[in-house]
Amino acid sequence: QSYSLKGFRAAFLDFTDDPFYTTETESVRYLPDGLLVVEQGKVKELGEYQTLQAKYSQIEIIDYSGYLISPGFIDLHLHFPQTEMIAAYGEQLLEWLNKYTFPTERKFQDKTYAQQVASLFLDELLRNGTTTAVVFTAVFPESVDAFFTEAQRRNLRAIAGKVMMDRHAPDYLTDTPESAYQDSKELIQKWHNQDRLLYAITPRFAITSSEAQLRLAGKLLAEFPDVYLHTHLSENQNEVAWVKELFPDCNGYLDVYDRLGLVGERSIFAHCVQLTDLEFNRLSAAQSAIAFCPTSNLFLGSGLFKLHQAKKSEYPVKVGFATDVGAGTSFSLLQTAGEGYKVTQLQHQPLSPFQAFFLLTLGGARALSLDDKIGNFDTGKEADFVVLDFRPTPLMQFRNPPQLPPTLDAFSEQLFTLMILGSDRNIRATYILGELACDRQNNPENPLN
Ligand code: GUN
Ligand code: ZN
Repeated sequence: QSYSLKGFRAAFLDFTDDPFYTTETESVRYLPDGLLVVEQGKVKELGEYQTLQAKYSQIEIIDYSGYLISPGFIDLHLHFPQTEMIAAYGEQLLEWLNKYTFPTERKFQDKTYAQQVASLFLDELLRNGTTTAVVFTAVFPESVDAFFTEAQRRNLRAIAGKVMMDRHAPDYLTDTPESAYQDSKELIQKWHNQDRLLYAITPRFAITSSEAQLRLAGKLLAEFPDVYLHTHLSENQNEVAWVKELFPDCNGYLDVYDRLGLVGERSIFAHCVQLTDLEFNRLSAAQSAIAFCPTSNLFLGSGLFKLHQAKKSEYPVKVGFATDVGAGTSFSLLQTAGEGYKVTQLQHQPLSPFQAFFLLTLGGARALSLDDKIGNFDTGKEADFVVLDFRPTPLMQFRNPPQLPPTLDAFSEQLFTLMILGSDRNIRATYILGELACDRQNNPENPLN
């Protein structure tokens, strides 16, 4: 019977509760020398190596001593067609969309091309330790098929959908309310709940969807209540002002989505930089999720997301980190967390390393209502995890000792170096359902080998 069991020896970090609302001793699970036992792609047991060693003496053990294993990172929002236009100079949101984004997304009408880019994009996620992602495709159904085909091939947990947009964009990139409804419906029936894939109804934002289109998006969501709703909200001041002009009867930007039935517990709103207090409260009541995209918000000059307000205990809003590639400047959620720290520093509310790693793992899983399946190493969860190297460069070897420390306080300091100095170089390996999906040391292009 032991043939189907596999063990991993390493240091382990995961969360059993939210460190924004509880003490670290109540929420952080840190094992300096642990053993994770995986059976059929799921977590069977996690404990001290010394305690479990005898019980599992017969099984194969993969030794990552000196490394840290964390649940795989969860990226709550990014755009696969924008991979090739990451780092486009000089513009803020609305001009950036017109000048760079729309012409690029046009190419994704071609399914072969879309599949090539999807493949590169998904490999890049794995190289960065991201094992679950919520992804914008393009307006073309072919781009959705291309994306899901490649995600399914890698057994990745992915949430995606066809972009709906019927105005304020070039003709070559627009659909109609009816075609968007019909195409989305067919794609839901084709892809939702196939293996680990999930569908998100994806109107781009209130500027590029007419009221008629948003209304049909709401109808679709009511017809398929277990799919997600994924869109952008209150990112940039000019955007918010334009939405108010387009929907003069609405009581603010969020209200546009709310009146059409798009604000619920499976709704994911990217950015939310310009939200009012009342809008934060409404997202809390609706149990919707916010994707916090610090590298993107800084890159496009959009502003500073008020993380401390989202995490207020009176009106808690579900939040996770997101890269928002290609307005975001990195696929690395470690770098994203580091920029998130700086955004909170500018508001004198510094994010702690444990809070950051919570947002990258269990917090993201809760934001997606997937915390029964992913997010930590509780027994029965899917064994998606990342093996982290604290010392991949001379600088990090100088900064961090060879052994991970035994106490939570000392460990917290090491963990902070991962989010401030870290990048894809710190990702030693990524596992999907207990299987190796990406290994730096076997990459011949890795100069550190
Ligand atoms: N708002 C509408 N579309 C987009 C997009 O592609 N990127 C970002 N960052 N914001 C948007
Ligand atoms: Zn985006």
